[in-house]
Amino acid sequence: MLCTMKELLEQAARRNAAVGAFSTYTMEAVKGIVQAAEQTQTPAILQIAESRFPYAPFELMAPMMVNAAKKASVPVAVHLDHGQHLETVQRALELGFTSVMIDGSRLPLEDNIRLTLKAKELAAARGATLEAEIGRVGGDEGMGQVRDSCTRPEEALAFWRQTGVDALAVAIGNAHGNYRFAPELQFDILEKIRNTVGCPLVLHGGTGISFADFRRTIELGVRKINIATALLDAQRKAARDCLKEGGSPSYFEVSERMTQAVAQTVARHIGVFNNREPLSAIE
Ligand code: 13P
Repeated sequence: MLCTMKELLEQAARRNAAVGAFSTYTMEAVKGIVQAAEQTQTPAILQIAESRFPYAPFELMAPMMVNAAKKASVPVAVHLDHGQHLETVQRALELGFTSVMIDGSRLPLEDNIRLTLKAKELAAARGATLEAEIGRVGGDEGMGQVRDSCTRPEEALAFWRQTGVDALAVAIGNAHGNYRFAPELQFDILEKIRNTVGCPLVLHGGTGISFADFRRTIELGVRKINIATALLDAQRKAARDCLKEGGSPSYFEVSERMTQAVAQTVARHIGVFNNREPLSAIE
C-alpha cells in the first residue's frame, strides 16, 4: 500500500528503528525490494535519484515504482532522491510520488533555505513529505577533510528552524558509492544535531557502512537509511555468476537471479534497520 514517507519515519521513531530507502534503477530492483519488504513484513521506501534519469528515465520508472508500492502488502513510500530542480520535484509529485528530496546542499545556507522553502510549498500542496540536506555527503579522504565537510550542528538547527522540513540528511563522514577506506562516522556530530534538531535524520551513502555503525546511528536519531550501490553491485554479481555457471541461461533466468540478489541484500539491511535482533543473528 502506498503511503507517505512521513508516516514511515514516525513509525520508525516509535520503534527506535530506521526505514530503509532503496534505490531503484531496474525492474529487478523494484521487484526485489518489494519482495523483501513483504517477506519481512516491514515498510520500505522505493527511491530514484534525478542524476540517474539518463539511464532510468523518470517517466518509465515512476509508474512502475508507484504501482509496485500500491500493490505491496506492506506500506511503501515512493521518494525522489536528490532532486536538483523544482521542476523535477513537481514532476515527481504529478507522477504520484509521496515524498521528495530537494538537494540544495551545494548552495550557501541562505540559498539552500530559499530553495527548500519553494520545494516545501510544492510538496505541501500534494500532502507529500519533504527531505532536504545540509552539509556535504562525500569525502573518504581522511579524518581532517571528513570533519571539514560534515554538517555544522548550528547550521542544521538554523536550517531546520527556518524550513521545518520533515526529514534532514546530514553529512557525518558518510559518502555515496563504495568507500575506498572504512568510513569513520562522526557520532559526536550526529549526537549534537540530534539533540537540537526536531525532525528525523537521514543517513545517505549506506553501502559499506558496518552493521554496528548503522545501529549506532539509529540510536542517535537516524530514521531513514539510503542504500543504492549495494543493490547495483548485487545485480551485477548475480548476472555474472549466472552466466559464468554455463548452461546458457535465458534472459529471464538471469533477471530472476538479479531480483533474488536484490531481495536478499534488502532483507539483510532491513534486519539491521529494524533494530530488534542482535547483529550476531544477522551477520
Ligand atoms: P550508496 O550508493 O552509498 O548506498 O548511497 C545511497 C544514497 O545515499 C542515495 O542517495
